[in-house]
Amino acid sequence: MEDVVDIVIGEARRYFNAPMNRFWFGPHLTIIATDPGYILKLLNHPLATHKEEFIYGGFSDIAGKGVFTRNGDEWRRMRKDLMNRVQPKSLQGFQQLITRRLATLCSVLDSKSLAGPVDLPHYLKLFALDVVIESSMGMESINETENNKYNFPVIFQRAMHDAVLFSISAKRIFGIASNKKLRDWARLLTELPKDILRHRQQYIQKYGEPEKSNLADLVLSTGKIEGLTLDEMSEVAIDLLIAGMDTSSVVMSTTLLMLAIHQNCQERAYNELKDIFGDSTRQPEEEDLKKMEYLDMCVNEALRHCAPPVTARRVEDNIHLDDYVLPKGAILFLGHEMLLKDPKYWENPESFYPEHFTTEAVRSRPKGALMPFNAGPRRCPAQAYSFQLMRNTISTILRRYHLSSLVKFEDLNFKFSLLKEPSNYSIILKRRT
Ligand code: HEM
Repeated sequence: MEDVVDIVIGEARRYFNAPMNRFWFGPHLTIIATDPGYILKLLNHPLATHKEEFIYGGFSDIAGKGVFTRNGDEWRRMRKDLMNRVQPKSLQGFQQLITRRLATLCSVLDSKSLAGPVDLPHYLKLFALDVVIESSMGMESINETENNKYNFPVIFQRAMHDAVLFSISAKRIFGIASNKKLRDWARLLTELPKDILRHRQQYIQKYGEPEKSNLADLVLSTGKIEGLTLDEMSEVAIDLLIAGMDTSSVVMSTTLLMLAIHQNCQERAYNELKDIFGDSTRQPEEEDLKKMEYLDMCVNEALRHCAPPVTARRVEDNIHLDDYVLPKGAILFLGHEMLLKDPKYWENPESFYPEHFTTEAVRSRPKGALMPFNAGPRRCPAQAYSFQLMRNTISTILRRYHLSSLVKFEDLNFKFSLLKEPSNYSIILKRRT
């Protein structure tokens, strides 16, 4: 599948080099914006908030109808509630929760890393899943990092593979495909959210409405408004679990892989941590995280390699931008991927080069050249959440292990999921003394 998507992106780079391009995707008029200024304007445009079903349909077939793929008033209602509930400031004890969950992750990694390369992306996904479940849905007893009872990351990966293939199939483009296989995946994915919602319902029955509501309550109240069954409600919750699990974990594993390959960068990041913590093994506190400037540069540079490649919208009514008119009903692609390796914006586009993120370098680039969390009304609500989680986790792993890899940077391949993820991952963790 990587080959097919690579070919599509390679061809897109070749043909769509104007700021705004137009083509027919089967019967669908499609516009692709590749200018950072236009991308930023369109992300903020009130007539471009509608997620195009034709593009996101495969995802919503496996991940249900949650906030990620909803549109109109249904989306607005959920989004407003959601915004307040994934901000670290409103998540009680988020820092302590991360610290506690990291202790479990480290003990699992200690045991798994003795015999050569370790499947770090898998354990980081389980860990990120545990964090999002406990922090935003209040369920402390789930411990997938150790138990992997639901096998959620593996099921999602297989489901997403089929969903991407389905989205680019000719049958889908001409609207004649059945999505039964994707619905079967969705049923498997609902097992975990169903247990979480059941648990929350039992809690409410026993103790009454909680003083502080969480995202499980948001799903339950959406279910009440829309008259949904437990099965249908769990479909509303799947995308939050997926977004919580499969995004920050991919950025963390990509950053750690880049540092394993680029020993000089690892050394510099490690020295920065030495300056902050000295020889102490104490856990990070929020003040420490603010001092991790070089580590942030590495995370941002890793994001340039693994950020979501494209955003798709439907134009809700004619949009006028300079001399362009984007007609109502057209599919709109915002081509982030076309900018991420463009030498106009990056000094060393094909390398891993954290210096792309010095203050001066960031200031000299148009803002739209890299927006991994997007902007505007549908931007990611969890940017601060993700950075707090990523700084804590990457710094803890770097302080505990020396990282190396059997893969060379030039041989790395990426597969497409929500983000782009290294497909020939290899990392060896050696405990520092
Ligand atoms: C480094 C990590 C992350 C990246 C790069 C990222 C990126 C994005 C992007 C680009 C979007 C917009 C998608 C679009 O418009 O099509 C988005 C939306 C979203 N993200 Fe994230 N995300 C990350 C982490 C998370 C986490 C940890 C959560 C949950 C705790 C989350 C929850 C969501 C939700 C619910 C939306 C949909 C918002 C809406 O449509 O109104 N994200 N994310």
